[in-house]
Amino acid sequence: GKRLGVLTSGGDAQGMNAAVRAVVRTALSHGAEVFAIYEGYQGMIDGGDGIRRLDWSDVGSILHLGGTVIGTFRSMDFRERAGRLRAARNLVERGIDRLVVIGGDGSLSGLNAFSAEWPELVSELAASGEITDDQAAAHPDLRFAGLVGSIDNDLVGTDMTIGADSALRRIVDAIDALASTAASHQRSFVVEVMGRHCGYLALMAAVAGGCDYVLVPENPPADGWEERMCAELARGREAGRRDSIVIVAEGATDRSGRPISADYVKQVIEERLHEDTRVTILGHVQRGGTPSAFDRWCSTLLGHEAALEVLGDHESDGPVIGFKGNRVARLPLMEAVRRTREVPAFIEAGDYDAAMAARGASFVE
Ligand code: F6P
Repeated sequence: GKRLGVLTSGGDAQGMNAAVRAVVRTALSHGAEVFAIYEGYQGMIDGGDGIRRLDWSDVGSILHLGGTVIGTFRSMDFRERAGRLRAARNLVERGIDRLVVIGGDGSLSGLNAFSAEWPELVSELAASGEITDDQAAAHPDLRFAGLVGSIDNDLVGTDMTIGADSALRRIVDAIDALASTAASHQRSFVVEVMGRHCGYLALMAAVAGGCDYVLVPENPPADGWEERMCAELARGREAGRRDSIVIVAEGATDRSGRPISADYVKQVIEERLHEDTRVTILGHVQRGGTPSAFDRWCSTLLGHEAALEVLGDHESDGPVIGFKGNRVARLPLMEAVRRTREVPAFIEAGDYDAAMAARGASFVE
């Protein structure tokens, strides 16, 4: 029978459990055997108890949980060929040659490389006697599909990555809470949100939270922004606004690439506007906790489709199963990764329109 492995890799994201559950149950209902690979790629390399067969009930009561119950890891060993060779042996020994990986662009491009390298790894294992020739012949290829798990919404080509909606909801809840205390004291708040190099969470939180100013990495502000920001905040006060909220993406910089910290923004507001200002760094509360309804149902559909993709017998180039225009969509994996990595290059080159357009491509295309 067909044997499928599922793992989560990179930073956890709300909805990963829903995806794992859907992969497991879809595989089981198609008569396949399914294995959870614990602690991301590391479990595949370590083997042993790191790879466990799952039944229907093993993924019960996890749909509503944040994080990933099968663990995650940013594996350095998987970047080394020796690690991948051990991973291939552990999979072949268990008859697993189909994988669904839920992770960020790094985890997914690693998966693509692993699959390309697979035939070579398997012949090497057979030549050195670590697996039998029959085992090698039975598993000539590694079939795979990727799902994007990342609160950052940082893969170009898919409208939403798993976890982004929940993180955004958490941020907007925090903004609402901060707005009430800010208004009571007529204070300003500078809120730093996650997103690594991607400004999606910051920008959408600013829109959804009705904030006054936002700084994102894709569109670094031109010189003199401090003055423009303060003028904006002052206008709000004049119009009777009792709270001012500035959102800073953790990856925000100025046009020469110098990071703009929340503390710096606070200092600017205090010095120029003489306002009582507080900084709130939301941190990992954005990533933990309950997945939103969207992250549950969407990840369920994505996991279902990914399992069908790897269990099928049709030609498959190992796609990303993403979400586009309210539909589950197949994206060419390396093309999505390439377009994602163009964004920092656009920023570096000072082409901020291109950077914003690339990020927004999934919304307007
Ligand atoms: O990619 C998800 C993310 O939460 C980013 O927003 C953030 O930059 C990073 O992970 C934090 O990583 P860590 O959890 O390793 O501190």
